[in-house]
Amino acid sequence: MAHEDLPIPIFSSLAPVYGDGSSLEEAELRIKNLKSKFAELFDGDQPDLFARSPGRVNLIGEHIDYEGYSVLPMAIRQDTIVGIKKRSDSKPLLRIGNVNDKYSLCTYPADPNQEIDLKNHKWGHYFICGYKGFYEFAKAKGFDLGAPVGLDVVVDGIVPTGSGLSSSAAFVCSATIAIMAAFDAKYPKKEIAQLTCECERHIGTQSGGMDQAISIMAKAGFAELIDFNPIRASDVKLPAGGSFVIAHSLAESQKAVTAATNYNNRVVECRLAAIVLAIKLGMRPKEAVSNVKTLSDVEGLCVTFAGKSGSTDPFVAVKEFLHEEPYTAEDIEKITEESLTSIFTNSASSLDVLRAAKHFKLFQRASHVYSEARRVHDFRNAVLSNSSDEDILKRLGDLMNDSHYSCSVLYECSCPELEELVKVCRDNGALGARLTGAGWGGCAVALVKESIVPQFILNLKESFYQSRIEKGIINKNDLGLYVFASKPSNGAAILKL
Ligand code: GLA
Repeated sequence: MAHEDLPIPIFSSLAPVYGDGSSLEEAELRIKNLKSKFAELFDGDQPDLFARSPGRVNLIGEHIDYEGYSVLPMAIRQDTIVGIKKRSDSKPLLRIGNVNDKYSLCTYPADPNQEIDLKNHKWGHYFICGYKGFYEFAKAKGFDLGAPVGLDVVVDGIVPTGSGLSSSAAFVCSATIAIMAAFDAKYPKKEIAQLTCECERHIGTQSGGMDQAISIMAKAGFAELIDFNPIRASDVKLPAGGSFVIAHSLAESQKAVTAATNYNNRVVECRLAAIVLAIKLGMRPKEAVSNVKTLSDVEGLCVTFAGKSGSTDPFVAVKEFLHEEPYTAEDIEKITEESLTSIFTNSASSLDVLRAAKHFKLFQRASHVYSEARRVHDFRNAVLSNSSDEDILKRLGDLMNDSHYSCSVLYECSCPELEELVKVCRDNGALGARLTGAGWGGCAVALVKESIVPQFILNLKESFYQSRIEKGIINKNDLGLYVFASKPSNGAAILKL
């Protein structure tokens, strides 16, 4: 059976997930702390079960999942563990605690139809995303959950937040599968990957499905090529001799808080670029507005156009039909023959984008998306090629550098700290380096020859982090949290210990 058709594995011990040695010891300690926090918060009770889901680092394919294109991430070791217990009170509540005292207990009614208060951001909201999403999924499946019951929950997350390593997906995925396991609902991973992606949209970001798909479907030892519509994961075995080092720029990226100007803005710009292209390529405006959602929807039209000049590159159409000068709303409305607010009338978060936007860079965003989609396949093909490992690693590094350039210049999702960090990585011998995740802060990922990893990390400490330690931005003893080498790790699991 294909990997994505299997259910989330259930283990009765920690070793199948955490291996042995120090990782296992760390996991044992975390479970012990989680249990004692649970007892402290909830009258001496213990969780019925645990669920864990990892963060991820995206190797290539940035900001294209929501446009329908494949991406190539791998899971990292850092994860979120959720302990959960069903209750049977007459007035049921969802009580969500955290082992970290920074996150105080959040209490919500056990009502799957409750609205999440997006203007008042609270950490517990991510659990409610999973809760609401699961009830919607169960309803659609005809799975009878009976009257809502109370849930007691304690969370332990070690994916650094605001880092571009998907701490939010690790939380939403572990929460959702913990709730599913509490209700004994077993479904294939591909359905859960889709479901968890929809869950996270309740937080107000129009995210694609990459983070949840890799968190749910990852396999130790492999990066995964993730395709969408339908979701599918294909193993990608990375060449020997290379290692991925993850380094935090120390600029926090708060995807949900800045959605209207950053993340969701780009989703809206891509949709507008796709609609304009469709119309320029002969579709009637009404039809384009109602049928065209993503740039992949109009790729066929663009490629047909490119074919006239002997090319297969959709960029030929972008160059012909979109101008580099940013578009105003009025410019676009002349083409669409409909107001932008009416086009996005059903999406409150897109209307927020329209209110905040001064103009729309359709040429730049479409150029990034089509070129980045091609780089993902070039990356995969390089891995599969017969070249020497050394040549393959060099090619992967070049593609990562090109991806960064495109993210930075065309998609404008970088920031000064990330630019500095990427440069420091390259100056210290990385074969390639790029921002990873949504950007606007968070981490960079560098491909480094395995033999120089320790020296590379030392050099980064000297040239990037030392001055920040001196300024008191981070504590010297925490450096290991901000810069580390990472191997492809396991995906989500249920733990019945
Ligand atoms: C965030 C989103 C993903 C993806 C990346 C950018 O992590 O959650 O779906 O769009 O940004 O590649």
